[in-house]
Amino acid sequence: MKKPLTIAIDGYASSGKSTLAKDLAAKLGYIFIDSGAMYRAIALFAMEQDLVHEGQPKTTELIERLSTIDLAFQRHPETNSLTLTLNGEDISQKIRSKAVSALVSSIALIAEVRTKLVELQRAIGEKGGVVMDGRDIGTVVFPKAEIKIFVTANLSVRASRRQKELVSKELSTGLEEVQQNLEHRDLIDTTRENSPLKQAEGALLLDTTNHTRESQLEAVMKFIENHSTC
Ligand code: DC
Repeated sequence: MKKPLTIAIDGYASSGKSTLAKDLAAKLGYIFIDSGAMYRAIALFAMEQDLVHEGQPKTTELIERLSTIDLAFQRHPETNSLTLTLNGEDISQKIRSKAVSALVSSIALIAEVRTKLVELQRAIGEKGGVVMDGRDIGTVVFPKAEIKIFVTANLSVRASRRQKELVSKELSTGLEEVQQNLEHRDLIDTTRENSPLKQAEGALLLDTTNHTRESQLEAVMKFIENHSTC
């Protein structure tokens, strides 16, 4: 039997990474890990523990409390999906709020937060058979991943997709506000010193602007098949 692959997907906010990662995981029978959800969980923890001041994390206090944070993915065998728990609580819905989206990129700048989450991500993915999406998966978390994909899409298309997703979760927001949040996060994510978002060497560049869900999956499956026959 062939060794299960590690598939690293990075890209801009709302570029379609998670949809692609979920579809790939379902097709290959792999697990899907949304690493952004883990950064969102820390942002939620900071908010709930009063560790935010004027829109910014209280970094020193948050670092002191990191060891009290237990993040875990619970598997649902019937759907082969995972839900993220924070100290035992299912937080899958709460981490999608506007307030968490506004705070999360500042949380992701904290080196100690990154160290803790990268360690956890490596532990989850060490045996392969995983599709993980984020900002530094192909560059930092799994630099030796067999398959790397870098996802991008036009900003207004990304904003409109994200707004639809929020509306479907009854978290309605104006299109302009959504677009500003994406631009703001992309700027922080691409310009930070520690593990900035960038295309990993050898990554397939996938622009999803004019792709359907099916056609992007097909394009990536071709890339994986070519890799496997090399
Ligand atoms: O994928 P997302 O939009 O839910 O990610 C939320 C934020 O977390 C994103 O703005 C940057 C950060 N992040 C990161 O720094 N590294 C990752 N591997 C994943 C997410």
